[in-house]
Amino acid sequence: MTTSGSDHGHKQEHWGSKFGVILAVAGSAVGLGNFLRFPGVAVNNGGGAFMIPYILSFLLLGVPICWCEWTMGRLGGRFGQNNGPGVMYALWRRGPAKGIGALTLFIPVVVYMYYVVIEAWCLMYAIEFFSGGFADRFAEATEGLTEEKEVVGAVVGAAGEFFSSTTGDTHNGGMLEGNLLYAILACFIVNFIIIYRGVTKGIESFCKVAMPLLILSACVILVRVLTLKGISSGLGFMWNPNWSALRNPQVWLEASGQIFFTLSVGFGLILCYSSYLRQDDDVVLTSLSASSTNEFCEVILGGMIVVPTAFLFLGAENATGGTFSLGFFTLPSIMHFMPAGNLFGGLWFGLLFLAAVTSSLSMLQPAIAFLENGFGLKRTGSVVLLGAITAVGAAPIVYYSRGLTALDHTDFWCNLGMILAATAQVILFGWIIGAERGVREANRGSDFPMPKFMPFVLRYITPTFLIIVLVAWGYTKLPGYIEGMSPATRGTNAVMNVYTPVIAEHFADENLEGEALTKRVRKLVGREGRKEPLPEWLAVHKDAAEEARKAESSDAKVARLVFIGLIVLYLLLLALADIACRNNIGKRIAEAEARGVRLE
Ligand code: ALA
Repeated sequence: MTTSGSDHGHKQEHWGSKFGVILAVAGSAVGLGNFLRFPGVAVNNGGGAFMIPYILSFLLLGVPICWCEWTMGRLGGRFGQNNGPGVMYALWRRGPAKGIGALTLFIPVVVYMYYVVIEAWCLMYAIEFFSGGFADRFAEATEGLTEEKEVVGAVVGAAGEFFSSTTGDTHNGGMLEGNLLYAILACFIVNFIIIYRGVTKGIESFCKVAMPLLILSACVILVRVLTLKGISSGLGFMWNPNWSALRNPQVWLEASGQIFFTLSVGFGLILCYSSYLRQDDDVVLTSLSASSTNEFCEVILGGMIVVPTAFLFLGAENATGGTFSLGFFTLPSIMHFMPAGNLFGGLWFGLLFLAAVTSSLSMLQPAIAFLENGFGLKRTGSVVLLGAITAVGAAPIVYYSRGLTALDHTDFWCNLGMILAATAQVILFGWIIGAERGVREANRGSDFPMPKFMPFVLRYITPTFLIIVLVAWGYTKLPGYIEGMSPATRGTNAVMNVYTPVIAEHFADENLEGEALTKRVRKLVGREGRKEPLPEWLAVHKDAAEEARKAESSDAKVARLVFIGLIVLYLLLLALADIACRNNIGKRIAEAEARGVRLE
């Protein structure tokens, strides 16, 4: 497919240079996913063996979807569209295109609402290190301790306390008690000032400085780590392959999930960024360069720093864990044991902060472009409006901090949305536009052409892979989250969790386990429902059980609120996308067509 015509008539912003666009897209991709999520996922899913499903997902999902998005985005730009609904509508003049477009608007905006909170944690941690706050906390926690195990425990405990007080995860409203609100405000200001300055002067200029700086900081930390005595044992712990993990379908699912998250692929960011390319700017090699930069940061920098060092200083039991525990408990502890730890700790969280900013910027630009293209808003208006919308959206995430429930549920539904949006886009590209036409369009102006088998991959392999991922993901994860929205179920489970250990201990001589234990718990706890009193030894725990029931049911209500809020927001964006497509977007596409721009 080729397009003809030009962008006359409307002022169309473009990237300043090829290097700039690569850094901006790589900046969008390189984030907390690379330095925190990847090491945790890899070490928990087979170490070196994890790289097999990971590389396959990169080649069969990441690279093809990136190419589709880059190509569709560049095409949409020729119709004067820099926003998801506009790009989709320019390529497919049917109702569902607006639905897909609204999804590519919705996901980035919602991800921003919680990503900016985590960004603020990184800022708080960097300040705490540079100001010597962590050193004081650790010194206080370890005072008088001599046993190595005790010292490690005290340091990890103090890091955990700092995490809890920063994130307020013990009770709702906890995030409002410290200085986090100021940090969030600072992050909002930084993000929106850069966005206000525009694509070239704002995003591109910032990424041109931030990306080399963060890669340099990570390299300095990596050199420090690789010169630590005994680090080879830590590298072995991280990378020794556990081949049996490959038989576990969950490992394959984790690998594809990581590829989506880390490449920021399939949910509208790349669509927006690539729409600022000129019509003959290369997409094939530029896309690969940005993805490769991301992989370098992820596998080489992310994969060699966190887990090996955690193993070396804290032992195997502290070197595994998810994004939060590795990043926010383990890392500060490691820095305490490392020479010049304050400096390296500050540098590390500073680089995480920069990585987060370059990603969060890319989550704002699609909505800014939509407000400008779709409703003719000026930059000030779009920035103020989006600032207000995202602040309102972030408020429940900040307020409902207990167990980070609101954040977790928002992230969950966004992940589902990402896979859906990617599937819809690949089907649009491979089947509606047509894979051969799409590949011809991608190859226009490219420094080297896509491989000849790409149309086959885009038509059959990638969509099939995506549908398998979607079904497997829905099967394994969805039920848990749906159950998490039921106050009754969560309340009952909480009560059982309080009573179960008490009952197990009371009947210790019977050695009750598994089904037998559950049956006994149900029988005893069920007495309340039958209006029979609980035995006294159990009744003393009634207040604790009630408290747990209340807390869990309230978390379930929060989860429900999040779900309903997200549905309402999506429907609102869909309505706005529809209005914009009927008016400004539609008009501008028609003008472009009148100038001769068309799909051939
Ligand atoms: N791709 C971004 C990250 O890795 C969202 O954090």
